[in-house]
Amino acid sequence: MKETILKKLLSADGAWVSGQDICQQLGVTRAAIWKHITSLRTEGWNIEAVSHRGYRIVERIDKVLFVNLTPWLTTTELGRTMTHLDEVDSTNTYGRKMTRDDAPHGTLIVAEHQTGGRGRSGRQWHSAPGEALQFSLLIRPPLSPARAALITQIAAAAGAVALEKLGVDCLIKWPNDLLIDGRKICGILTEMSCELDRIDWIIMGVGINVNQQSFPDDLKQKTTSLHIITNKPQNRAKLLASFLNAFEPLYQDYLAHPDGPQCLEICRSKSALTGKVIAYEQAGRLIEATVLDIDTEGRLLVRHHDGSKEALLSGEVHLIPPHKPR
Ligand code: BTN
Repeated sequence: MKETILKKLLSADGAWVSGQDICQQLGVTRAAIWKHITSLRTEGWNIEAVSHRGYRIVERIDKVLFVNLTPWLTTTELGRTMTHLDEVDSTNTYGRKMTRDDAPHGTLIVAEHQTGGRGRSGRQWHSAPGEALQFSLLIRPPLSPARAALITQIAAAAGAVALEKLGVDCLIKWPNDLLIDGRKICGILTEMSCELDRIDWIIMGVGINVNQQSFPDDLKQKTTSLHIITNKPQNRAKLLASFLNAFEPLYQDYLAHPDGPQCLEICRSKSALTGKVIAYEQAGRLIEATVLDIDTEGRLLVRHHDGSKEALLSGEVHLIPPHKPR
């Protein structure tokens, strides 16, 4: 009930919400509403109450706290256990440590700031405090390690769906980047511990550029943020909930239909690579190929210039601009 009231007030975006409307819609008394408003205030929400006008949220709590996430969250398993950190080296590293204490499937770790945020291929992930959405999700899928590559595709699809909810259209650059107008808005770092036949845990780290208003010159051409795209600040907790709300059903669908999961439809329809010429490194050599599709195991299907085909399981791929002679 308290969460429903908070959600109503947040959705009004600072406008007044009449007490009578809340009573009627939720079928509760004014006294009950008052009790929940008092409780929300003790949690730190600055809620104004004026007779004949109702209630409104005067000031948002901007941090990605559990209390800000739950009003939007519709998942049953994911994100129901959460650790929020003002500062940490890396949420992925923190999540790894939590696996030693048997942290459960669905555990979420969110940081306002990372001092050693990690990207793929040993790169770093930087963001000023409070601007990006940076989190790691610990999952324990009952799958063989060979099936793990699809988890990154589920995350990419969930990210695309979450951005769509904000009216933002992105493309997925296999396997782990979301792009808008060719600029990166989201990166995913999936790490795993497994035995030969089963996955012990997967830590899926996601960084989304949300409220950065500009980037240093060397990143401007390569990177963008939701603030830059939509011209206004965005609620990171709500975005995180949208991500998890999209991820959970796609993940369950994958467990139920491992040979034809729904996430692939999203990844294929939003692929930034299909039909394009790419370059990737293999055994120290740079290889060019044309992208054909993403196969049912989440691998990138490519055709070499000699006509032979290959399925890439993971790795860094670069788009070759069409005008570049080969
Ligand atoms: C990439 O683009 O190469 C992947 C970037 C992944 C960054 C996220 S931010 C949250 C999580 N913690 C980390 O240290 N990295 C991931």
